[in-house]
Amino acid sequence: MTYRAEQPNHSRTGEAERAERVGRVGRAGLTGNVGRDERAEREQAREFFAVRAADWDSRFPDDGPRYAEAVAALGLASGDFVLDAGCGTGRALPRLRAAVGPEGTVLGLDLTPEMLREALAHRAEAGLVNGDVCHLPLRDGTLDAVFGAGLISHLPDPPADLRELARVTRPGGVLALFHPIGRAALAARHGRELTPDDLRAEPNLRPQLAAAGWRLTHYTDTDDRYLALATRSS
Ligand SMILES: C[S@@+](CC[C@H](N)C(=O)[O-])C[C@H]1O[C@@H](n2cnc3c(N)ncnc32)[C@H](O)[C@@H]1O
Repeated sequence: MTYRAEQPNHSRTGEAERAERVGRVGRAGLTGNVGRDERAEREQAREFFAVRAADWDSRFPDDGPRYAEAVAALGLASGDFVLDAGCGTGRALPRLRAAVGPEGTVLGLDLTPEMLREALAHRAEAGLVNGDVCHLPLRDGTLDAVFGAGLISHLPDPPADLRELARVTRPGGVLALFHPIGRAALAARHGRELTPDDLRAEPNLRPQLAAAGWRLTHYTDTDDRYLALATRSS
């Protein structure tokens, strides 16, 4: 995908500010240097999702149980810090909150303010940050887990972006790359062919994850679910 320039316009909710005060969320990345091409790609993504934000949830009303299964697969514990990377309207946030309990921290981060506005209205259980997965405002090794639903195909530089997710995750932490339908079903929905170079195909994803500091531990790609789980290497 190609994305256009964006001046970061980060807004944070109270929980995100609280996380920063207690030293778990840094400001690094909030105004970090972003090249022109990269900014262009971000802006294209933002424009694409901005116009889809208002009716996003109503387009996919039956996905709830699959999100619940994917969150359960992360194996979160009470008190964990989990990032919903590209959280969109926050469909996963209540389930992530339930999994980490009141002592845990849930941060939803998304590039598109319109998506976050929906998340803010309906999903206030988490801190929300308007930011970029490629330049996370988090210190090294902060997270116990990352949940990324429908995200990976929108990453402009997957090797670097998966490394950035690894940077902010502690050794042994877990990454879930999820989509509520599988690759073939998604390609059919979009009227395109699946190509062998699809990053989400296991033979492509496994080495990309390994190079970025992740070990693929589980892979499912069926009509009704795509789920890749990986553990942060030490
Ligand atoms: C397909 S939507 C999925 C939204 C949500 N995770 C869900 O499952 O409903 C992809 C989301 O990723 C966000 N996104 C795309 N590129 C991003 C980036 N570089 N950093 C943060 N969010 C990004 C988009 O704004 C959009 O909300």
